[in-house]
Amino acid sequence: MKENTSVEWEDEIKKRRTFAIISHPDAGKTTLTEKLLLFGGAIRLAGTVKGRKVGKFATSDWMEIEKQRGISVTSSVLQFDYDGKRVNILDTPGHQDFSEDTYRTLTAADSAVMLIDVAKGVESQTKKLFHVCRKRGIPIFTFINKLDRDGREPLELVAEVEDVLGIRAVPMNWPIGVGRQLKGVYDRSSKTVERYHGGDHAHIVVTPTTGIGDAVLREMAGEMYEDVYDQLALLDGAGNVFDPVLVARGELTPLFFGSAVNNFGVRTFLESFLALAPAPASRYSQGQVVTPQQAAFTGYIFKIQANMNPAHRDRMAFLRIVSGRFVRGMSVWHGRLEKEVKLTQPQQFLAQERDGVEQAYPGDIIGLFDPGLYRIGDTLTEKKGIIFDDFPVFAPEIFGQVVVKHALKHKTYQKGILQLTEEGTIQVFHTVAFGDTILGVVGQLQFEVFEYRMKHEYGVEIELQRLPYVLARWVVGLAIDPVKFRVNSILCKDKAGNHVVLFESEYALRSALERNEHLRFLETPPKITL
Ligand code: G4P
Repeated sequence: MKENTSVEWEDEIKKRRTFAIISHPDAGKTTLTEKLLLFGGAIRLAGTVKGRKVGKFATSDWMEIEKQRGISVTSSVLQFDYDGKRVNILDTPGHQDFSEDTYRTLTAADSAVMLIDVAKGVESQTKKLFHVCRKRGIPIFTFINKLDRDGREPLELVAEVEDVLGIRAVPMNWPIGVGRQLKGVYDRSSKTVERYHGGDHAHIVVTPTTGIGDAVLREMAGEMYEDVYDQLALLDGAGNVFDPVLVARGELTPLFFGSAVNNFGVRTFLESFLALAPAPASRYSQGQVVTPQQAAFTGYIFKIQANMNPAHRDRMAFLRIVSGRFVRGMSVWHGRLEKEVKLTQPQQFLAQERDGVEQAYPGDIIGLFDPGLYRIGDTLTEKKGIIFDDFPVFAPEIFGQVVVKHALKHKTYQKGILQLTEEGTIQVFHTVAFGDTILGVVGQLQFEVFEYRMKHEYGVEIELQRLPYVLARWVVGLAIDPVKFRVNSILCKDKAGNHVVLFESEYALRSALERNEHLRFLETPPKITL
């Protein structure tokens, strides 16, 4: 495939870093994002990102639900320049009502920053998001936050990351005390220390040392010195060795300690991260690699957001650029529809402001106004024949049944459910026994968005009744018998006709595994690649 050879173009690709921050709610993602944006000069005012979260700065064009709930329902992208790098932070909703969109957004990232609360360790949502990143094999960087708060033993946290997540970790810096005892951090590769003083650490002052036996470290650590020395000696002697190849493969996570709210360790983290994180990666089209350097523009839609502006019924489709160069107004080939479409009025997002975009490069995300042309997973390209591999489907964990309040609206409801399923708002299953419809979602919020859109876009009022299932597994094999899935579970088909069993508990799944050794139970539909 033809590659572009311009140095300028190549530089634009090389300098991009597109990543997502994954964390459990309250770990400090909003705070960290805001500090990174401040370093990048993208915002001048602290509180801008936070303000959006609590609704203070909500502009009129955020979706109604978003305003009502004071949360970011849908993710966008935050862009800034730092140290010659163009940084794209994919903003994933961190609220406990996170949704399939959160997972889908991760498919547009080239690396991830995993944020962990020093007192809470690895939490449930971190685990789920981590596994999506792990499957894709992208590099994962860990930031242990809230070091100023009394928390767990650092060595215990490192062990937890390794044991619970099954990834090796290599601490890049090491805390000298935690919480009320916090005195600073020791950077293991540069052998420098940074003192903690409780104020804002935007301007960092580091002191060089000769190593872990240095008097500076001894003086800082005081009576903790022996412990800190032993920990560092243990890491040096028996800990994982930093290996960029393993980091790139997502098998080793560089781990940093800091405190986002105090800006402590944040700048050092950002600089190390930008140096180590990968530039935009290739994607696959039917077994063929599409590199970012390929001259023809290609990209795929990973998210569709409806009604961002309630005054217009418009939708926005988010596209990740894989190769080539995007130029405003260009015409591209829409493979699924088999027609040319013109990319007018593209948007890039910075904090909550919308910015027009003239050109963009691989790794960038652009928002396209969508008059109903796009679906999740669509490929747009200047060169016919490229179709990026199937978009992943994520196993839902919350299930419900719909009751349409007015019987006369049933037809419109059917139309709505079809369209909203295609858009990826919800997943639909039909029971094998009676053909009943069951809706599945990853997060409760998806149900609320579904209900809201049914009412506002289709004029159909519905009532959702929760069902007791909490797990879904796609089943492959011969002789799949619905009778065997009657207790604590139910056999369904998804919209592609694959068999799916919904379970009421882990226990129900385990006993099904034991009783059906001839079947395979998969977490994602068969033949889907990430
Ligand atoms: P999230 O987006 O991951 O949900 O978390 P967010 O940044 O909103 O942070 C959750 C809470 O943790 C906030 O407190 C925030 O100030 C606090 N926090 C973030 N980083 C640190 C840190 O390094 N040290 C300490 N001690 N706290 C931190 P809040 O009480 O919910 O809000 P606020 O009114 O204090 O901002």
